[in-house]
Amino acid sequence: MTPGIRPLIAGNWKMNTLVREAVDLAKAVVAGAGSVKAELLVCPPFPYVAGLAGMLAGSTVAVGAQDCHAKEKGAHTGDVAAAMLKDCGASYVILGHSERRADHGETDAMVKAKAMAALAAGLTPIICVGETLAQREAGQALEVVHGQIAGSLPEGFVAAGGVVAYEPVWAIGTGKVPSEEDIAAVHAAMRAQVGGTTRLLYGGSMKPSNAEAILALPNVDGGLIGGAALVAADFLGVAKAAG
Ligand code: PGA
Repeated sequence: MTPGIRPLIAGNWKMNTLVREAVDLAKAVVAGAGSVKAELLVCPPFPYVAGLAGMLAGSTVAVGAQDCHAKEKGAHTGDVAAAMLKDCGASYVILGHSERRADHGETDAMVKAKAMAALAAGLTPIICVGETLAQREAGQALEVVHGQIAGSLPEGFVAAGGVVAYEPVWAIGTGKVPSEEDIAAVHAAMRAQVGGTTRLLYGGSMKPSNAEAILALPNVDGGLIGGAALVAADFLGVAKAAG
């Protein structure tokens, strides 16, 4: 953790949950959020953003989305603009997740354009970066993350409170986690690059059993949680490990 920075525990629900499940999960998170000191965020699929934001208004749990388009509006069938998400009650948007970079060919430049749109709409971007297994094994992790941050963060990102999430691609959904030394090394390098105030999250197979050790590392200011965010008790277990 970083002194003076309030941790953020964000749930990335990805393409999971039907309406009933989403409502029940959100309710269970709110019900258990009372004693949590960290800021809590859930990022459901697009169709549930408005409903959950309405339901969670006035609670301590914020709602975010998992992507947005770079343009303000227009002829982009199937896409969602940042202003729409803001209007629906979202406060954050995850951008450049490795699954989007892989499934939709999102480049650093595209992520940067989306982040600019998010900032213009008043959303806080959470920009994801992280190396593949081949890149880690080739000793390129720090270089890859540095390049992604340099290419994906727009001007004004730090001043607006933008968040960066380090998610090694090989640790996402695999149960594999980098060593504490490796997480600390990447986070120290990210801190040197983005400065002292930006929240730096770790993501990739984070769960209640490893959260305390990861969140205790210097420059780890919270987590971006996938699989464990689909079970309220696990998500809250990670959140409680943040202090
Ligand atoms: P995971 O996903 O916790 O299931 O590894 C994290 C993420 O992709 O954000």
